[in-house]
Amino acid sequence: MDPGLRVDLERVVGAVHVLTEPEMLSSYAQDWTGRFVGDPVAVVRPGTVEELASVIRLCAAARVPIVPQGGNTGLVGGTKAPSGSILLNTRRLDTIGEVDRLSAQITVGAGATLESVQQVAREASFDVPVDVGARGSATIGGMVATNAGGTRVIRFGMMRAHVHGLEAVLPDGTILSRLGGLIKDNTGYDWPRLLAGSEGTLAIISAVTIGLVPTLSERTVVAIGCDSIAESVRVAMRFRDTNQHLWAAEFVTRAGCELVADQLAMLVPPVFDRPITLLLEFDGFEAALLSVAKSVDSGDLCEADVTVAGPGSPTQADVLWAVRERHTEAINRLGVPVKLDVSLPVNNLGSFADSLPFVAPGAVMFGHLGDGNVHVNLPGLGVEGREIEAAKAEGDILVLVASLGGSISAEHGIGRAKAEWLHLSRSSAEIDLFRRMKQSFDPLGLLNPGCLIPT
Ligand code: FAD
Ligand code: MLT
Ligand code: ZN
Repeated sequence: MDPGLRVDLERVVGAVHVLTEPEMLSSYAQDWTGRFVGDPVAVVRPGTVEELASVIRLCAAARVPIVPQGGNTGLVGGTKAPSGSILLNTRRLDTIGEVDRLSAQITVGAGATLESVQQVAREASFDVPVDVGARGSATIGGMVATNAGGTRVIRFGMMRAHVHGLEAVLPDGTILSRLGGLIKDNTGYDWPRLLAGSEGTLAIISAVTIGLVPTLSERTVVAIGCDSIAESVRVAMRFRDTNQHLWAAEFVTRAGCELVADQLAMLVPPVFDRPITLLLEFDGFEAALLSVAKSVDSGDLCEADVTVAGPGSPTQADVLWAVRERHTEAINRLGVPVKLDVSLPVNNLGSFADSLPFVAPGAVMFGHLGDGNVHVNLPGLGVEGREIEAAKAEGDILVLVASLGGSISAEHGIGRAKAEWLHLSRSSAEIDLFRRMKQSFDPLGLLNPGCLIPT
């Protein structure tokens, strides 16, 4: 790194927050799966929005590209820093304000982890509406930047819907602040929500006002064994349409659960022995039992296929969830995976699942069934030396998704992994508009180059 720039950066954030030693850089430079390894010259960790703005101004003056990074749990290579760039890590921007009970909002620094915000919200009987398995590391800024989805989208929608205010720094160092939290504010372009899903290509988010929801009061988890994806879709959608307290509708396969059992030495309950297991979560024990009973009475469900863990059995509920949430970890144990996060119209989920084994034998599926969101995992295919095979499998799967009316990215974003496939989900006119938007925010092209927009 240019020695002058280094001195200037150290003056702004302190020498301990400018990391340049290779052994210090490596854990920031490599992603969670091990598939994407960047080559930054430094990691810089500002502690305030003013420091963040100064760092950005210095980098802009030196024409050094910046890659924003939160918890580094993203799964599409969005933080894979190009050679010579600076990884700008936001973890120190971790202030958490008080819960504003009247407006049901909280304002937090971009670097606060989801789990730390959940904890504060829950102490006040509120909750963050979006939840993801990576909650211990994923930051609120990263979740807004990727428009994270997770397990409660069927009830509350994705992260963008809960951005009630935002503060961000433009690539020239200008600080934009709109943290007021007004629910109604029709005064022109909604730039805060435009930044949701922009994957660090337009501005760096420094703080967020999040809308909260009342906490789960009677958590009830219901696991239902099914014979096929098509059957599990029918069952899940009937629950969705007859029970307004449904918070989650997830699915796993027998193959995936066997992996969890084998790789993580976990005792997986017998309900997961069926080809597909549907995992539903409700806020309300009686209402959940009533819905199950109605489905059994009408012949839609067989009682023997159902396991219920109500508010009196929190440990059993946690075990059922752990089998679902630990799929990512179990798959990683088989070697660096290729991970594709796609969505389909729910009426095409069955056709997709039937076709997938012909296109990608050995693929492990799981995901957010209620949102038509399937995570397709190809264990071990992400290693060096298998790039051609990986690109062919990715192309075949994503073309299949597009042919069934789906999206090549449901919730993880485009990052660097899918930029070349963006044309399967977006028209050339849309991609051209993306380029013009990028140009107007970042005329020098210094913010996260190569991410989201195809080069
Ligand atoms: P990072 O990985 O650090 O960055 C992700 C992207 O956002 C990058 O492009 C980066 O440049 C940009 N970015 C980060 N911070 C900022 C900022 N302050 N300003 C501007 N840009 C920024 N995702 C889901 O949607 N649903 C899930 O259910 C889910 N489950 C997961 C489970 C596991 C076990 C793991 C490992 C990941 C999971 N993810 C899930 C993916 C990941 O957690 C999310 O994408 C998350 O939102 C990323 O947050 P982060 O802070 O780690 O961001
Ligand atoms: C999940 O829902 O668990 C994830 O989005 C993570 C993954 O796809 O592995
Ligand atoms: Zn997911």
